[in-house]
Amino acid sequence: MSAVSVFAPAKLNLFLAITGRRPDGFHDLVSVVAPLTWGDTVRAEAGTPGELTLACDDPAVPADETNLILRAERAWAAATGWAGGATFFLEKRIPMGAGLGGGSSDAVAALKALEALAGPEVRLAPTALAGVAAGIGSDCPLFLTGGPAVMRGRGERVGALPPEPAGRLTGRRVLVFKPGFSIATPWAYARLAAGAPGSYLPAAEAEARLAAWIGDSRAKAEGLPFNSLEAPAFRKFPTLPLLLEQLRSDFGVSAGMSGSGSACFALLPEGADAGAVAARVRREWGTSAFVREARILPPG
Ligand code: C5P
Repeated sequence: MSAVSVFAPAKLNLFLAITGRRPDGFHDLVSVVAPLTWGDTVRAEAGTPGELTLACDDPAVPADETNLILRAERAWAAATGWAGGATFFLEKRIPMGAGLGGGSSDAVAALKALEALAGPEVRLAPTALAGVAAGIGSDCPLFLTGGPAVMRGRGERVGALPPEPAGRLTGRRVLVFKPGFSIATPWAYARLAAGAPGSYLPAAEAEARLAAWIGDSRAKAEGLPFNSLEAPAFRKFPTLPLLLEQLRSDFGVSAGMSGSGSACFALLPEGADAGAVAARVRREWGTSAFVREARILPPG
């Protein structure tokens, strides 16, 4: 194959319990994560052997070595010994500093594109590919699986949700919205760690809450939103909880923050007027707000 185009979905953390700090400085978490029907596109073409380049339609996206696509390319080439070259082009749609997994999803899309370009002779075993993904970013392994998943550890242990609870999530309409400001993930985790141990949800409690939701076939997606990182984000940016509270009380929707923010989401019932909710977001957060409707992707 000489050219390939790979969809890089955005994700939402519908449930994100941070359970404690690990000896390696990262945090252990238990999270229900859902990839969306909306995201970036990574296009790749075979290039000059040994050369890996990246261009992007958004000038705000760094196209240098800090970009996770280039880090993914280099890590994959080192792991496989592949000596080919590739030219990447990123169509950026997912806002950065949002907790929507854009950079991680792009990186995994790049790994999939490289596999397609290089052909089956240079393929890594699934566990080796997952190891490469985990080395690039905590959210990367998630994007190797499709559909709603449960993430554990630092994010490297990913399992599909059982079919019945996954069915309560797939196809659900969501409104994703982000204010004009971003939140840096290391900042959010550092603020959470400053409030330890009270800021963490004990692992047993997190697992019990998740198991209760999974085990109750009448439980809806609406019962899932929880996010340990809301506490530090909401303290610094009170406009986040103010708007979420308005959406809950005026539209009756379930809403929360995704990942380390600053993007938030509302779960929209099928007949809900998404335009009215979007208009409220824009009224409160102004024209710099990003708003996008999407659905939760099914597995596969
Ligand atoms: O792995 P990633 O590059 O996404 O992590 C960014 C930062 O977020 C880490 O440097 C760390 O401060 C924090 N983090 C964490 N525990 C996780 C994931 C991220 O402490 N499980």
